[in-house]
Parts: sequence; C-alpha cells; structure tokens
Amino acid sequence: MSLRRVLTGITTSGTPHLGNYVGAIRPTVRASRQPDTRNFYFLADYHALIKVGDPARVQRSTLEIAATWLACGLDPDKVTFYRQSDIPEIPELTWLLTCVTGKGLLNRAHAYKASVDKNNAAGEDPDAGVTAGLFMYPVLMAADILMFNAHQVPVGRDQIQHIEMARDIASSFNHLYGEHFTLPEVVIEDHVATLPGLDGRKMSKSYDNTIPLFATKEQLRKLIMGIVTDSRAPGEPKTTEGSALFQLYQAFASADETAELAKAYAEGIAWGDAKQLLFERLDREIAPMRGVYEELMRDPSHIEKTLKAGAEKARSVATPFTAQLRHAVGLRPLFSAPASAQPVKTVKAAMPSLKQYRESDGQFYFKLLDAKGQLLLQSTGFASPRDAAQSMARLQKEGPVALPALASVLASQADPIAVNAALAQLAQAPE
Ligand code: TRP
Repeated sequence: MSLRRVLTGITTSGTPHLGNYVGAIRPTVRASRQPDTRNFYFLADYHALIKVGDPARVQRSTLEIAATWLACGLDPDKVTFYRQSDIPEIPELTWLLTCVTGKGLLNRAHAYKASVDKNNAAGEDPDAGVTAGLFMYPVLMAADILMFNAHQVPVGRDQIQHIEMARDIASSFNHLYGEHFTLPEVVIEDHVATLPGLDGRKMSKSYDNTIPLFATKEQLRKLIMGIVTDSRAPGEPKTTEGSALFQLYQAFASADETAELAKAYAEGIAWGDAKQLLFERLDREIAPMRGVYEELMRDPSHIEKTLKAGAEKARSVATPFTAQLRHAVGLRPLFSAPASAQPVKTVKAAMPSLKQYRESDGQFYFKLLDAKGQLLLQSTGFASPRDAAQSMARLQKEGPVALPALASVLASQADPIAVNAALAQLAQAPE
C-alpha cells in the first residue's frame, strides 16, 4: 500500500551534455511528476572520487549537475534530491554490506574486470593502478539503493550488473539478519535513443565529441556548425539515414517538424542551412532552461541550501533505518538483553502503528503509537471517518515528508525525532 520508490544516482564527474539530457535528465524529470511514486535522486559524489582525483573538478561537477537538474525542472519539493556525501549513513551501510558481500562477486564486476584484463593484456600486474574504491564500487552503489529500499532503479544498460549485485547483497543480508531490504528492480529506458556526437559516434565524454547542454548560445552555434556531414553540395538530395544532424534534430523536434526536415533533405537543403535549423530548434528548447541555469550558477549557496534540505529529508529515512540495521547486526547498546537465545530470522521487529477510533464527541480521530504503545501523534477530530482515514493513509504512505502538509489536522506531537523515526519505519516497511 505504500508508494513505489524510485531511486537513481548521477556521478559527479563531468559536465552534462545533450546526450545526458535526452537520455536521462529529460525522461527522469518527466517521470518524477508521476503520481504514486516517491522519487530519490542524488549526486553520487563518493562515486566520483573513484575516477576523479581532482578536488576542484568534483566540486565544480557537483554544482553543475545540481544546477542542471533544477534548471531542467526537477522540483525538490516533490522529490528527495540530495548529495550522497551529506548522508553519513551511506558509508556506514556500505560497511555493513561489505561484510556480507562475497569477494568473488566483486571479482566479476565488469568495470573491475575490464581494468584487470587491460593490465593482463599489457603484461602488467593484474591489479596495477586498480584502487580498492573501484573494487568496492558495487557495494557503495548497493548501499545507495538499499538505504531507501528502492523498488525501481532507472539506469543505463552499463549499470544492470550493479543492480543485480545490489539484489544479491540484499539477499545475503536478509538471509543472515531478517527481511530488512526490498530487492530492487532495474528499469532500462529503452525507448530513449542514444544521441550521436559531433563526429557521428555515440555522444560521450570518452570520445570527446559532446555538446554541453548549457553551452552559451554562441558556443552552441559554433559546435553545431562543426558537426560532421558528407560532402554533398547544396541542391543535391541528402539521406537522413545515418545523419548525426538529423538524429539530433529528431531528439528535440515534433514528428511534424522532423518530417519537414526529411523533406528538405530530399530536396537538397544545404548543410549550412540544415545546421542553422538544428541550432534554432535546440536553442528554442534550451534557452529558457539556460537562463535558469545561469542564474543558479551565480548563486551556489542557494543550491547548497536546496541540497541540505534534501539531505534532511533523506536522513529522516536513513537515520532511523540505520539504527534498525545496527541493531539487527548486533551493534547494540550493552544494556539491552542479548537476543542470542532466539533464532534471528524469527524475530519480527516490533512496529509502530496508526490507529483510527471514535470519541464520545462523535468525531473520528487517529493516533500514531510507537512500538511500545507510547502516543506520538494525535489528530484533531474529523466529522467523517473517511477524512480521518485519508490523512492517516497519507502518513502511512509518505512517512515524515507528509507531516508539514498535515500540520493542521494534528492536535499534538511528541518528540519530532521519535515521530520521524516511527513514520519512516512504517513507510519503509518492506511489503
Ligand atoms: N553508478 C551510476 C552511474 O555511473 C551512478 C550511481 C551511483 C547510481 N549510485 C547509484 C545509479 C545508485 C543508480 C543507483 O551511472
């Protein structure tokens, strides 16, 4: 009955380009507006450290990527948008997961294996230049996903194996310590085309053929004028098949506009004119966002604040959940009785509860009790049981995030940390 939780991370190691926009940012921002989902998007800056050793670049990329997502319409009030390194519970969970992860599983990770293969081919030591960070990459990523018990993780094809590993790691933990984690599912956005870059190959940082999403208007024009075309002269019919220019246009234009360009190709439009059309079409979509982006980039402290608020939202889930996990593995205060006599798997964690009831005044109420039955929240009176049930269902589904919106129907609240923890536990409970 709780909302579907969707989570994805963006490594902060580069500057967003048109391919990122069409392949990931645009579809994700659209998907984030769907009802019935709770979305977690984060800047994977711990992951960035694995490949980037330049502190200024990590900081710059974090700022650029945050500003990009916000400028492209991600609403931080509707989703949980945060920076991985603002959540100290993530490295803590990484360690708990490390201890149930087979080294053999990590040996099979594609990225690690590729480095080893390359070394072997070059006659080097197999692990030359391979950091333990690269080796541990999948575990850190599993911690990102499992911390929020994500049901779905939208990623590119190259990340499928990492999601499968997160499932394996979650299963190992659950098997040993009880059902704490939801097994995540990978979601591949197959209908989004990969964009060609300036040279016609897939647009990618590693080919150095990208068009930065928020290049200035002049830079954008210059880059587009540099896209490779064939040598057909003006007046000669041109083929759309395999034309990078055409594919770029198609990714932004409507079906009608695209058909019109195809017609112009057949009629022998000059490459220079076709490039001008592409530039105008791209700039039409990008210019308004570029304005917002430039404004955001001028005020990094605003973005910092937005991310900190996101981290607070994320930690309202992560902090109590980590407490639960610490307890599960035996990192416990010494005054609590050792539970060693009981088989671990049959111990069902006591849960907080939401209860609806009717008072002698004829009105309907609900309350939140902690696992021990202590009162945490008490609603105001509702004339109809439906209304009471609705507010209650919202709390149950959304957890602590729903509290501000429900403030007017809450008559009393206990200690906010206890309230948050109980609500997070309810919303988080694996189905
Ligand atoms: N590894 C992902 C990438 O390079 C980024 C990432 C980090 C991620 N943690 C994640 C994606 C958790 C999804 C879920 O694209």
